[in-house]
Amino acid sequence: MEAVTVVAALGFLLLAGAEGSAGDEAREAAAVRALLVRLLGPGPAANFSVSVERSLAAESGLDTYRLSGGGAGARVRVSGSTGVAAAAGLHRYLRDFCGCHVAWSGSQLRLPQPLPVVPKELTEATPNRYRYYQNVCTHSYSFVWWDWARWEREIDWMALNGINLALAWSGQEAIWQRVYLTLGLTQSEIDEYFTGPAFLAWGRMGNLHTWGGPLPRSWHLKQLYLQHRILDRMRSLGMIPVLPAFAGHVPKAITRVFPQVNVTQMGSWGQFNCSYSCSFLLAPGDPMFPIIGSLFLRELTKEFGTDHIYGADTFNEMQPPSSEPSYLAAATAAVYEAMITVDPDAVWLLQGWLFHHQPQFWGPAQVGAVMRAVPRGRLLILDLFAETQPVYIRTASFQGQPFIWCMLHNFGGNHGLFGTLETVNQGPAAARLFPNSTMVGTGMAPEGIGQNEVVYALMAELGWRKDPVPDLGAWVASFADRRYGGFHQDAEAAWRLLLRSVYNCSGEACVGHNHSPLVRRPSLQMHTTVWYNRSDVFEAWRLLLAATPTLAASPAFRYDLLDITRQAAQELVSLYYGEVRTAYLNKELVHLLRAGGILAYELLPALDEVLASDSRFLLGSWLEQARAVAVSEAEAHFFEQNSRYQLTLWGPVGNILDYANKQLAGLVSDYYTPRWQLFVGALIESLVQDIPFQQRLFDENVFQLEQAFVLNTRRYPTQPKGDTVDLAKRLFLKYYPRWVAGSL
Ligand SMILES: *[C@@H]1O[C@H](CO)[C@@H](O)[C@H](O)[C@H]1NC(C)=O
Ligand SMILES: *[C@@H]1O[C@H](CO)[C@@H](O)[C@H](O)[C@H]1NC(C)=O
Ligand SMILES: *[C@@H]1O[C@H](CO)[C@@H](O)[C@H](O)[C@H]1NC(C)=O
Ligand SMILES: *[C@@H]1O[C@H](CO)[C@@H](O)[C@H](O)[C@H]1NC(C)=O
Ligand SMILES: *[C@@H]1O[C@H](CO)[C@@H](O)[C@H](O)[C@H]1NC(C)=O
Ligand SMILES: *[C@@H]1O[C@H](CO)[C@@H](O)[C@H](O)[C@H]1NC(C)=O
Repeated sequence: MEAVTVVAALGFLLLAGAEGSAGDEAREAAAVRALLVRLLGPGPAANFSVSVERSLAAESGLDTYRLSGGGAGARVRVSGSTGVAAAAGLHRYLRDFCGCHVAWSGSQLRLPQPLPVVPKELTEATPNRYRYYQNVCTHSYSFVWWDWARWEREIDWMALNGINLALAWSGQEAIWQRVYLTLGLTQSEIDEYFTGPAFLAWGRMGNLHTWGGPLPRSWHLKQLYLQHRILDRMRSLGMIPVLPAFAGHVPKAITRVFPQVNVTQMGSWGQFNCSYSCSFLLAPGDPMFPIIGSLFLRELTKEFGTDHIYGADTFNEMQPPSSEPSYLAAATAAVYEAMITVDPDAVWLLQGWLFHHQPQFWGPAQVGAVMRAVPRGRLLILDLFAETQPVYIRTASFQGQPFIWCMLHNFGGNHGLFGTLETVNQGPAAARLFPNSTMVGTGMAPEGIGQNEVVYALMAELGWRKDPVPDLGAWVASFADRRYGGFHQDAEAAWRLLLRSVYNCSGEACVGHNHSPLVRRPSLQMHTTVWYNRSDVFEAWRLLLAATPTLAASPAFRYDLLDITRQAAQELVSLYYGEVRTAYLNKELVHLLRAGGILAYELLPALDEVLASDSRFLLGSWLEQARAVAVSEAEAHFFEQNSRYQLTLWGPVGNILDYANKQLAGLVSDYYTPRWQLFVGALIESLVQDIPFQQRLFDENVFQLEQAFVLNTRRYPTQPKGDTVDLAKRLFLKYYPRWVAGSL
């Protein structure tokens, strides 16, 4: 069968959300015009005309935009088959005709005067039905403290990048609370169940409960308000918001109210003990399953309406109680049936991470049981980490169920330059060509955002391309020009070096999690090997500094200059750590004092100082976001502590230590640096006193420091201090010559 035929056979899914009336067209066009005004201001926006016409999409029904006009005295005409398609067309015009750049770290929107002409009417259709965005975890690592203003900017970014399918998961705990109260649970039983705000993602997937909680009343109210605004905006642009559905996880207190209920206690998760994990899963055959599932969905859709696609993850990173296909099929069917009881048009969006995470468990029979338990086209799978370990290949394209090819890229919102641009570039086109492919979309599913923007720019562009970008070298060069608002030879050269090094990871080692010793608890066994040649990073650093006199006014340039300075510091920490270890093992006290002194008392403090010069790298701003959500000082303190835990210990005893590490001013000075000072001190003492270094003892001591950081109430600056360029240069002049001379 031709790939197209297979996908057409999934007809139902392809139609979901595609119908619409003239009123919808007008509403979507108005939403894109409002976006345009937010982006460019009312004056420049008036030079564009925006329309939405469903008929633009050919029979395929695939999103399409059309560009024309421009030039002196003439408006640029942008039309799209949906609001999202029009926004994507607008972005295409700004990017490819005006040389503009829309970015998290600062957009570059200088428009040529007059607006460039579109020489020949340009029509572009997306190759697939869906462009998806988000991971369940993004809500905790990146979105947790966002207010509406920040959400609004993100939804604009989504629309401009043509995203038409995204999670809208805020406020679901407020709905669950209503359901549990209806079922007879007490408020304190509910409070005991929910995790804190910074850990909701894992509560929602049944990995955790209780930890970091309880959720304050005000939280529920604010999240409900936010969710309504998010949904209104997404829908007004023609995006499909994915709402949550019941996956089977229940509070333990259900068994108090319904003693007959059949629940299975799952194993522990993520080095958490059963005080916070080992959640309860309702048996698929239990009569309460459809009752709870439909109560929730009814209450949810009554509050929020629906677009008929629902997300639920029953076995995310958790071994199911049985590997019997009949059990897995029943567990799957129960979730789906509870959905269609309330919404006969329901489609289930499933994160395919479980198949990647436990490949031994999920053999062909197990995967097949899940795939066949739901009618074809009603289960939509996110092949979540497809750029590195695609699941569609070993499952015969999910045995005929549709899937979305997703790039995951980032874990824990870590800083650290990383990307697999070559494999990302090739991946979607290859998946479309796979025999009997059921691919219906492309997606971005990072755990955290706000880093390595180049990777997301490429992936977003691929959502609208049938083929890979032909020449990535030329592509990154033009990315640099647009990002900084002009051609600069050194900036382009820097980006070509980054492309061939940090952004060209390939193979199974590319997991995108920052394991740099800088952000890890020190030991004598740390890995310092990287997949690239460090020279490329140091040269790119030199080249960006060389471009500074011309480009320093660009916010994105200043971000990148700081980011690469940060990366160079990260490389230097690895190198000095190597020196420290060698000196220690060779019992060379003088060398140890020198290398350890530089690492812990010069380099890290200098890194903190340069980070402190940019508002985008401040712990103070990070924590202030959390405090700003609070309605009282006690709540502000509680939210801040949630945030500090997530960045560092993650759980009460460092259960998932440093997973969500970040290089922020304040976090470097008060968390990573003291740790390294303690380590260097312990090694020196060991040599001086001639007693072996004891990791266990060190771990106990360093935990006191780590915990002290989480519990302390120091307020950090929210305003930058010092000049990034001067500080970066100072660091460069000190360390670059040492690197080049090969003598640290
Ligand atoms: C918009 O159009 C007006 C009139 O044609 C012109 O004066 C103005 O400069 C234009 N603005 C931009 C940003 O092109
Ligand atoms: C789980 O660990 C916490 C400390 O993190 C401890 O207080 C609690 O007693 C432990 N619970 C169980 C059931 O082991
Ligand atoms: C409880 O559910 C499991 C499957 O989840 C099933 O094997 C078992 O027989 C059920 N127990 C009862 C008493 O129904
Ligand atoms: C594709 O599907 C057709 C029809 O079901 C089948 O005959 C063929 O073997 C499949 N090809 C592959 C490579 O799986
Ligand atoms: C990336 O690495 C692959 C080999 O892993 C190589 O074939 C390719 O040319 C590299 N790409 C760039 C841009 O350096
Ligand atoms: C790394 O790059 C530098 C500079 O281009 C080069 O001299 C060196 O040989 C490279 N090292 C490796 C291991 O390829």
